[in-house]
Amino acid sequence: MPDTESFTEHLLSQMTLDEKIGQLNQITVGPDFDPDMLRQGKVGSILNGSSGVLTEQGARTTTRAETANYLQQLALQSRLKIPLIFGRDVIHGHRTVFPIPLAQAAAFDPALAEEAASVAAREASAEGVHWTFAPAVDIARDPRWGRVAEGFGEDPTLASRMAAAVVRGFQGEDLSRPDTLVACAKHYAGYGAAEGGRDYENSEISEPTLRDIYLPPFESAVRAGVGTLMSAFVDLNGTPATANRHLLTDILRGEWGFDGFVVSDWDSVAELIQHGVAEDRAEAARIALHAGVDMDMVSRAYLETLAASVRDGKVPVDEIDEAVRRVLRIKHRAGLFSHPYADPQRAAHSQPTAESRQLARRFARQCMVLLKNEDGLLPLQGFRRILVTGNFAHARGELFGTWTLDGRAEDAVPLSEALRQAAPRDVELMFETHVDLALHVAHHADAVVLVLGEHPSRSGENANVSDLTLPAGQAEFVEAMAALGKPTVLVVFAGRPLALTRQVAQVHALLYAWHPGIEGGAALAEILFGYEAPSGRLPITFPRATGQVPIYYNHKNSGRPIVADGAFRTRYIDLPSGPLYPFGYGLTYTTFRYNNLRVSDATLRNRITVSAEITNTGPRAGREVVQLYVRDLVGSLTRPVRELKDFQAVDLRPGETRKVTFTITEDMLAFTRADGTRGVEPGNFHVWIVPHSQGGLRGEFAL
Ligand code: NOJ
Repeated sequence: MPDTESFTEHLLSQMTLDEKIGQLNQITVGPDFDPDMLRQGKVGSILNGSSGVLTEQGARTTTRAETANYLQQLALQSRLKIPLIFGRDVIHGHRTVFPIPLAQAAAFDPALAEEAASVAAREASAEGVHWTFAPAVDIARDPRWGRVAEGFGEDPTLASRMAAAVVRGFQGEDLSRPDTLVACAKHYAGYGAAEGGRDYENSEISEPTLRDIYLPPFESAVRAGVGTLMSAFVDLNGTPATANRHLLTDILRGEWGFDGFVVSDWDSVAELIQHGVAEDRAEAARIALHAGVDMDMVSRAYLETLAASVRDGKVPVDEIDEAVRRVLRIKHRAGLFSHPYADPQRAAHSQPTAESRQLARRFARQCMVLLKNEDGLLPLQGFRRILVTGNFAHARGELFGTWTLDGRAEDAVPLSEALRQAAPRDVELMFETHVDLALHVAHHADAVVLVLGEHPSRSGENANVSDLTLPAGQAEFVEAMAALGKPTVLVVFAGRPLALTRQVAQVHALLYAWHPGIEGGAALAEILFGYEAPSGRLPITFPRATGQVPIYYNHKNSGRPIVADGAFRTRYIDLPSGPLYPFGYGLTYTTFRYNNLRVSDATLRNRITVSAEITNTGPRAGREVVQLYVRDLVGSLTRPVRELKDFQAVDLRPGETRKVTFTITEDMLAFTRADGTRGVEPGNFHVWIVPHSQGGLRGEFAL
């Protein structure tokens, strides 16, 4: 095979204008699909292909692989035989459903996310998928937004690590291998800042905040070699992301050197008309292409208008050539010209295996966050009869969460079944989901486990809520149950942080299980009965009340910071200040002590090291996520009160002490100034090594 650049140039030189525009057109295949479009080279990509289409011979394809192969052979009948690239939303697993991305971030273990993404790539590619629309790396500070479930939380450092890991997991070492997927960092950019948490709303983000908070995970994905990006639906500072040349060309290509392609989001090229920046479809296509959107997802505005715009001299053919070059480059890197077809043998074996399930279980355990554990109620010990109640008591597919096109409920053991299998022999589990009956049964129980929370349909795309408390009726149920005075554990399944202030006061233990995926039931059982300990930490701040959002740990100090609650300080008069639980927070079944913070030098020249000793002071082995935060005390622009710069997980036996050392380099302290330049400014810094974003051991250094 010739190298990618000479291959694409050679191919490009043979293409007609229509064939070029065809490569920039992505369609879905429905009942009205026209096979000749593929034969004529009018389609470059197909997304979320259905599992069956009617062939010209009158038969119906049955499996996804068979459908992909049927469509591919039509495309390969085109003059230049350019293969289609099949895209699909493989967001947190394919058949083996892993925890939702927000939960994955809670594990603070990018290597685990990388492994999960490589399993998803293996399974999906076997079915003819070449390209996934993941990872979503949108920073979100407002959990009302339903898509908070799909990203990695509020912190740019954590999200950047996750982004790079997931890209590596999907794409592997060698993208041309048939068991990898091209990744797509989305939704570029500022999508998570939608006003009021309403999906598709506009966002206003200052350039320094855009560059220091929202863009780093995208840059990290680019540095990890991501093949594609998706432009967001959002109107960013008055220029819709799909029309935003500053984002798509100046920053992405100019500053970061990205050479893959950008796909629009669904219909977002044509939506430039609704945004009010284009008069008609032709203008919308021209603006998007010029901004740097190479492929048009489903709107067909490119297909229908670009040729005429070129002929009228409104679109330079160079712009089309450049977009085509990028698409062909990725198709070539993905190995599509040498293996365009799915292997039916592999497809037949694309299902969860013992190993993929084991990984999913470990991931689910590691992402669950223990938020409260009064008197060590968890793990459950010494209780003979335990009532398990709530809308998740028999959950199966509900454990998967949003965006699981290929997960099958029958692959998951129902929660009740998983708990039964794991319960010690002398424990009697009683299941009752009817609220009134559950109150009766509770009288006969020694302890109560409430498994409540959000159905997957309550988070994800456009599933925004105006109220972050538990879904309708659940708060009353917790209250009624708690009034009985039994030892009560609340397990919450959700796609977002919920405001659980009332429940925290009512129950003895609170475990946040997110939507944990295919092995979520078993993972929960292992944690409840103490075979394993939870070790997740919050990747996003938990508010006390909806009215507190946006609330995030890396905020600015203001001129009137909260020292103690008092008048004329940044506060609400009807709430204590601060979050219900801070970013980075999470308990486990043992405790840790932090000692001896040491900073290697008083002044940073190139680098310094900061260390602390962490001791397991509790009764059992445990995993602690040790976090490094920095504060730049004085800057030409105001600086966040803390910024996470690094983290390390340590596994410690009871009584064991480990010294944890972090390195801080000068570039880690850089930020974007008012004039848009990025750099460091001399001055004094605070540094913390801590279990979460508040309090803890503090040191100092100067730059
Ligand atoms: C719209 C969503 O915003 C995006 O995340 C997804 O990848 C595409 N639809 C394709 O399904």
